[in-house]
Amino acid sequence: NFSGFFFPPESVLLKSVRFGSQRKRRGSMYLEEETNKKSEVISCIFSLKEEVGALAKALRLFEDKGINLTHIESRPSRMNRDQYEFFISVDSTCSQALDEVIDGLRTQISGHVHELTRNKQKDTVPWFPNDIQDLDRFANQILSYGSELDADHPGFTDPEYRARRKEFADIAYHYRHGQAIPKVEYTEAERATWGIVFKELKTLYPTHACREHNRVFPLLEKYCGYRQDNIPQLEDVSRFLQSCTGFRLRPVAGLLSSRDFLAGLAFRVFHSTQYIRHGSKPTYTPEPDICHELLGHVPLFADPSFAQFSQEIGLASLGAPDEYIEKLATVYWFTVEFGLCKQGSEIKAYGAGLLSSFGELQYCLTDKPRLEAFDPDKTSGQKYPITEYQPVYFVAESFEDAKEKVRKFAGTIPKPFSVRYNPYTQSVEVLDNTQQLRNLADSINSELGKLCEALRKLE
Ligand SMILES: [Fe+2]
Repeated sequence: NFSGFFFPPESVLLKSVRFGSQRKRRGSMYLEEETNKKSEVISCIFSLKEEVGALAKALRLFEDKGINLTHIESRPSRMNRDQYEFFISVDSTCSQALDEVIDGLRTQISGHVHELTRNKQKDTVPWFPNDIQDLDRFANQILSYGSELDADHPGFTDPEYRARRKEFADIAYHYRHGQAIPKVEYTEAERATWGIVFKELKTLYPTHACREHNRVFPLLEKYCGYRQDNIPQLEDVSRFLQSCTGFRLRPVAGLLSSRDFLAGLAFRVFHSTQYIRHGSKPTYTPEPDICHELLGHVPLFADPSFAQFSQEIGLASLGAPDEYIEKLATVYWFTVEFGLCKQGSEIKAYGAGLLSSFGELQYCLTDKPRLEAFDPDKTSGQKYPITEYQPVYFVAESFEDAKEKVRKFAGTIPKPFSVRYNPYTQSVEVLDNTQQLRNLADSINSELGKLCEALRKLE
């Protein structure tokens, strides 16, 4: 019986894997190599079948190679009911010998032994969140805090605006998953800025926005307080989205890396700003603000097809190498931010960057920009400006079609495993063992049963 050991909760463990060390990860196995010179240790996790003597046999392999374990803990495996996982640390001078022990664990011990990632470059998989709660960690690793403004920002010399931005950044910084997003009392001046943007854009939506946007917009007016004289609260909007597609909003304190931002989408979480642009230039903002999020992004996240499309990009990003993160971020840019799509014989805008810009929303449907068919292979390599109107847009046949294309593209990303989102546990499952595949087969089986039954009843 292994349960005598103390084992830290996975969240604590992953935290240590995430920070201050080089991370390597593959599926349900981890290998950590501390870069801190003073305490050079290698830690790894392996799992064994629960049977008498299994741990002793495993430990003997370490002993045979002269490896001194500096730390060992155990816990029951969450993936396989009859297995236990062990977390061990060894001195990094044992790296070579550890290789042999891992081979030994694989070949000499009966029962299933997870393969451990070793220090082989090709196997290195960047860390990614497993659980929706893991997104809390992104708050600590924003690239810049929301109150730091560039010199050319309209609010740069306005101390009051900067203080206000800090308030918003602090709300987001302290936010944790599961909490209600704190409501904000917007000032009269802020509401006036919102009002100008809201009024202008609303006149263009019927002719320029895609039908999904136009279908959802009246619902937002009805249920979420979308009005010219009112800035809706993120919490109300997030609840509305959850009831439509399971998407939810999370306040963000500053700029996230592409990797972290895209990872949020895998959990149907959209990182949203809560502040508003500077009042001196209501039709211009050099960065996303609440007008961009609520008018541009939110309506589309209420559409099931679009929600799935967005999640597909997010799932593709998990554990992807850096160069593919850049490609996926570019795909995101030309779809979720600046996408156009065919609707009948017309072309309409669905990208949030377009739907929140009075000028560009008109420009994108003129004959000035170049239009190309959406094709992730090509789109992902397209360069783009971020401070001026786009010279080229990509046109999707439909969200369904775009989703299929992204899925195919995702298949070309070099990763040693597949993932699936489990909405019941709100976690990402790495499909790297038979138990996981069996769970997936069971769930498909039960869904198929329902489908067949419903079809029979209709007939
Ligand atoms: Fe955006």
